[in-house]
Amino acid sequence: MLTQAPKGTRDMLPQDAYLWHWIEQKEREAAARAGYREIRTPVFEHTELFLRGVGDTTDIVQKEMYTFKDKGDRSITLKPEGTAGAVRSFIENHLFAETLPCKVYYLNAPIFRYENPQSGRLREHHQFGMECFGGKEPTVEAELISTLMGMLTSLGLKNLSVHINSIGCPNCRPKYHAALKQYLGDNIHCMCATCRERFEKNPLRILDCKEEKCRDIVKDAPVILDCLCDECREHFNQLQALLTAQKIPFEIDPHIVRGLDYYTKTVFEIIMQSGREGLALCGGGRYDGLVEQLGGPATPAAGFGIGAERILIELRNQNLLPPEPSTTDVYVANLGADMKIPAFSFAQALRALNVKADSDLNGRSLKAQFKYADKIGARYVALVGGDEYARGVIKLRDMATKEEKELPVDTAAQAVADML
Ligand code: HAM
Repeated sequence: MLTQAPKGTRDMLPQDAYLWHWIEQKEREAAARAGYREIRTPVFEHTELFLRGVGDTTDIVQKEMYTFKDKGDRSITLKPEGTAGAVRSFIENHLFAETLPCKVYYLNAPIFRYENPQSGRLREHHQFGMECFGGKEPTVEAELISTLMGMLTSLGLKNLSVHINSIGCPNCRPKYHAALKQYLGDNIHCMCATCRERFEKNPLRILDCKEEKCRDIVKDAPVILDCLCDECREHFNQLQALLTAQKIPFEIDPHIVRGLDYYTKTVFEIIMQSGREGLALCGGGRYDGLVEQLGGPATPAAGFGIGAERILIELRNQNLLPPEPSTTDVYVANLGADMKIPAFSFAQALRALNVKADSDLNGRSLKAQFKYADKIGARYVALVGGDEYARGVIKLRDMATKEEKELPVDTAAQAVADML
């Protein structure tokens, strides 16, 4: 146990760090281009926020939250998603009183869900998310989706299509709930206990049940798209026109309901091409009621979240992972104990000039130092010592071509920096 990470968690190892940095850089650039600024919110929040925000009939709240009492007897929950915390911060910090829309993104925020760990489903994962507060037009969703697709394309990912749906608003949803209840009729008694409870409290959520017998019953249920009010229909039509104009491929999927209760009108997902069946690469949508529901002024809003680990799975499956760049430009080898200080100083001089430099930390022999330099993929080895150093020069070896040249000690660091 001591040397085993908790089930469903993963270390990010040093040899994978460059991949995370690469993805993060693309995410930052894409978000910044669309005018989004970074927000960071705590890893834990008051449990109440998620009960009210995510919804007490969702799987996340009913089955998956990491909830505990702190030493002050407050109920605390590790973030099971990123939106509720961003909304809480938007309200608490009066961001609604500043210029709207307020566009924010969070970068690889740790998210915790007590799920059954399997490929692509972790108990701790990391989300990049974008949230726009104070924009009511479907251009908001179009901007979110095109920014997201631009980011994924900049990583090289191909063949991704966006699945969109509209799940209506408080005006038209009761009509759908009635239609769904009528369709389910007596069959509700054959469904699982959770669905029976949801039938009374929140029938739409029944469509999100993973139990096979329940899925079988709902597969021919009426779809909410047929019950939309004029405003929701128009919103959905405009979104489609905007995506078409951007040449963003999309499919209308009336079965997307999403696993969180706050959505209104648009919901969307990108389904993984190569992952397990039905696993989403990304999910999001509009949530016009949430800010007010959590105590802020009525503010339309929309956003999405995408898991870094799933981006990595998709990149790996599409064979798009770049090789790790070398961590060292120059390895500074010393020729014996009396050369340790000059060699160390030379490495420091290189670093001061922004060169990735490394030197011996173990009193290794020259042969072992060369072997090490080779292993870490150093482009050059600078040899400090011997006759050369006595003559006031440092020998520089190009590890690929094996060519060697001598550089005057005083100007060697700058000369190397200029070569790179
Ligand atoms: P979500 O669909 O629950 O939405 O999660 C968003 C993304 O997080 C998923 O598409 C997936 O990439 C990743 N993800 C979710 N659960 C796991 C898991 N167990 N293991 C690995 N990756 C996972 C939300 O969380 C909403 N807050 C998104 C949103 C933002 N909607 C509006 N704004």
